[in-house]
Amino acid sequence: MTRTAMLSFLFWQLIILSANPYLTDAAGGGWQLLQKCIGVSAMHMQLLNNDRVVIFDRTDFGASNLSLPNGKCRNDPNDQALKVDCTAHSAEYNVATNTFRALFVQTDTWCSSGAVMPNGTLIQTGGSNDGDQNVRIFKPCPRCDWIEMSNALAARRWYATNHILPNGRIIIIGGRRQFNYEFYPKSNDAPNAYSLPFLVQTNDPNIENNLYPFVFLNVDGNLFIFANNRAILLDYANNIVVKTYPQIPGGDPRSYPSTGSAVLLPLMNLEAQSVEAEVLVCGGAPNGSYTKATKGNFVSALNTCARIKITDRSPQWVMETMPTPRVMGDMTLLPNGNVLIINGAANGSAGWESARNPVLNPVIYRPNNALGSRFRVTKPDYHTPNVPIPRQSYFEMVEYSLAVAILKAATYSLMCFTQQN
Ligand SMILES: *[C@@H]1O[C@H](CO)[C@@H](O)[C@H](O)[C@H]1NC(C)=O
Ligand SMILES: *[C@@H]1O[C@H](CO)[C@@H](O)[C@H](O)[C@H]1NC(C)=O
Ligand SMILES: *[C@@H]1O[C@H](CO)[C@@H](O)[C@H](O)[C@H]1NC(C)=O
Ligand SMILES: *[C@@H]1O[C@H](CO)[C@@H](O)[C@H](O)[C@H]1NC(C)=O
Repeated sequence: MTRTAMLSFLFWQLIILSANPYLTDAAGGGWQLLQKCIGVSAMHMQLLNNDRVVIFDRTDFGASNLSLPNGKCRNDPNDQALKVDCTAHSAEYNVATNTFRALFVQTDTWCSSGAVMPNGTLIQTGGSNDGDQNVRIFKPCPRCDWIEMSNALAARRWYATNHILPNGRIIIIGGRRQFNYEFYPKSNDAPNAYSLPFLVQTNDPNIENNLYPFVFLNVDGNLFIFANNRAILLDYANNIVVKTYPQIPGGDPRSYPSTGSAVLLPLMNLEAQSVEAEVLVCGGAPNGSYTKATKGNFVSALNTCARIKITDRSPQWVMETMPTPRVMGDMTLLPNGNVLIINGAANGSAGWESARNPVLNPVIYRPNNALGSRFRVTKPDYHTPNVPIPRQSYFEMVEYSLAVAILKAATYSLMCFTQQN
């Protein structure tokens, strides 16, 4: 059996198991083109429990390349690009049948955030423009579509991070100019938003470098929240910071627009009396990269990873060096416990056309190998057919998307990367 791991964005994971006759021969893995054009850029994607993937982009950037069905159109006087838009900005990809259908998203999901509820429903929150305080629900069912709830959030949430909690609610943390968090669904007896000074402290003036914080649930029930170059452990129920972690050595920022990526490594010792948990943060861009990129200077991205045992009494970051620098990379856990590091660029920064030099080689990180022998470079695919290049600059479109797009400047194509064991 072959394990096929599809690409994913920050907090979206998507794993398929399939016997695959179309593999390329690249050692350690290969690329397969699934769909030459799905018409919607996969800025965001989420695998659901019915083996379908919800893909969406943004609504305020003009027409997509996928029509809405049955002559439907979106009439949105608030839209900044197209007030009557008969194209889709979201699609559902069916892994089993390799088919896709258009979905109807009503408001702007640009740089929104989401989490899956225990019952399998995707709760997507915020975004930009007319969508920044909305909640959108997508249930996994064959014909379901987006359901929107206007102004269901306490605050605007653009570049926020969501996480599912043990009580089945989701927490929504930060976002541009939001130094607070809130929960969804709301409970009646609680304030709508809770202040989080950590997001003020980690906000670099005029650059931010603390958006889309990396958030993981620790084994003690508290939330590990990383922004910029450091992290806290938050007792979110009582709004108390219970631990402050040291800065990553070097002090370089790892959060948007200096976008690196992070994973909670697989928990290895579940039988132990005190279970240990480790977080890995990789790549990003040195402080000032975004400003330099706007002036045409695309400095090298960071090539370091930092790993920390978040359950330790006095936790310390351990540094490692990746085979290549990478900004806007994505990391996802593979079924065998390894980490796939994929996407991104070797120069510049996240944000508007600010990156150069796409990194075509995904890297496998083997957490249990000895320090110094954990990274393995996989080969890019040379067999990809030519795909139409859309008008927009692809770097900005794929900022948080599939490796796919970066691979051949093909924002609308869907590919999967397969690791052979
Ligand atoms: C998608 O692109 C193709 C090729 O450019 C074009 O023929 C088609 O009309 C486009 N469809 C939509 C809905 O934009
Ligand atoms: C799952 O829970 C959400 C939030 O409570 C609810 O809106 C949704 O209808 C539920 N989904 C299913 C499939 O029951
Ligand atoms: C990044 O640079 C800005 C401007 O020079 C500075 O204010 C900020 O403290 C720096 N951030 C870090 C994390 O060093
Ligand atoms: C990327 O950064 C390296 C190291 O600073 C530099 O030599 C190279 O010219 C840069 N590439 C681009 C496309 O700017």
